[in-house]
Amino acid sequence: MVQTRKKALLVENIHPGAVALLAQAGFEVETLKAALKPDEMAARLAGVHLLGIRSKTQITQAALASAPDLIALGCFCIGTNQVDLGSANALGVPVFNAPFSNTRSVAELVIGEIIMLSRQLGDRSREVHEGKWRKVSAGCFEVRGKTLGIVGYGHIGSQVGVLAEAMGLRVVFFDVATKLPMGNNRSLATLGDLLEQSDFVTLHVPATRETHGMMGEPQIAGMKRGAYLINASRGTVVDIAALAAAIASGQVGGAAVDVYPEEPEGASDAFASPLRNLPNVILTPHIGGSTEEAQEMIGREVATSLIKLIDSGTTTASVNFPNVELPMTPGLHRVLNVHRNVPGVLGDVNHIVSQHGGNIRGQTLSTDASIGYLVMDLEVTAGAEGVAVAGAVAADIAKLVTNIKTRVVAS
Ligand code: NAI
Repeated sequence: MVQTRKKALLVENIHPGAVALLAQAGFEVETLKAALKPDEMAARLAGVHLLGIRSKTQITQAALASAPDLIALGCFCIGTNQVDLGSANALGVPVFNAPFSNTRSVAELVIGEIIMLSRQLGDRSREVHEGKWRKVSAGCFEVRGKTLGIVGYGHIGSQVGVLAEAMGLRVVFFDVATKLPMGNNRSLATLGDLLEQSDFVTLHVPATRETHGMMGEPQIAGMKRGAYLINASRGTVVDIAALAAAIASGQVGGAAVDVYPEEPEGASDAFASPLRNLPNVILTPHIGGSTEEAQEMIGREVATSLIKLIDSGTTTASVNFPNVELPMTPGLHRVLNVHRNVPGVLGDVNHIVSQHGGNIRGQTLSTDASIGYLVMDLEVTAGAEGVAVAGAVAADIAKLVTNIKTRVVAS
């Protein structure tokens, strides 16, 4: 079967590593530096099989409806709020992102901040910039032998634990899920236990109803006097007014904050916070994951997910789609079908396969509330031409009233 060259449109200056990977995989790649407005985007999507965006491009239901050839959408970033995920799901378009590509970058920032807080480096640096020479040792400490408490021991938290232990910190953590401790890191039963023991508390939980304000006035009061608080997770996790008051009173010895309940939209907007100009407080503009390496990893991770989807139908790691991964078997032909999740689809599909003399060698179906995703490998009886049979099967499946999208992948 002649495979037409598939087209990828990448907007918002996506990393060249991703462009190279897609080009190597045989895509015709068009890149744009800027984001496109919704109506401009809608006008460009006919004939596009893969679309790559970052956080500034809004993908609306209307844009998706004007993209009949679109097979998948890659968000070359962490968040996916800019995409109408429900509409993409209903139209059979899986959406991918790269949630863990910047894990190491955040962990390294936190490690740097542990030493900066312990030595009051933010304040000293500012003073010297202002021409003041204040040599201070009172209230400055080595981190060796101190206790670091990690709240949320997932991808980032556990990396921080490994790196901190290498610097001689004793590491404890609290997580709602059971987590395997790395190295000599130790799990604690409650947040209260962690706050009582820790000289540094670092937060690495997601933004959920349970974590909203989880470091409020009572929790901050439960910390060791003079301990430090680091938040590079989500702005809603800490009660900022309570933290500012605790720093002013000396209950908290310093803080490093990268994320805020309200963040400016862009560089031209002013930043207001009760934390500004307090002693030993490091404020950064949500840059925990912002490194060249993270950008490159994001490019590689999302491009790889898109290529795997095209080549084998794999949807593992998609944020809006039933996750399916079935290894490819040489000599078989794969039919991929997205359908409305109603009773009887599998029976209809299997009937079509037998009508065409095909034999099902592998079949995986995964569903969510609205769609089903079927990955099916066919072998055919001797003499028949495999791709042709798979093509005929796919063409008939596409005629079913339940069909959303169907295509064939040759092994
Ligand atoms: P993850 O999902 O790998 O880990 C989160 C951990 O928190 C999980 O182990 C989970 O069980 C635990 N958790 C959930 N609710 C909890 C609770 N109530 N109490 C204790 N533990 C709880 O997430 P990952 O990748 O480690 O990210 C952590 C945070 O960092 C997220 O909020 C993410 O949005 C944020 N982040 C911030 C960046 C920045 O630029 N500052 C960049 C990347 C991530």
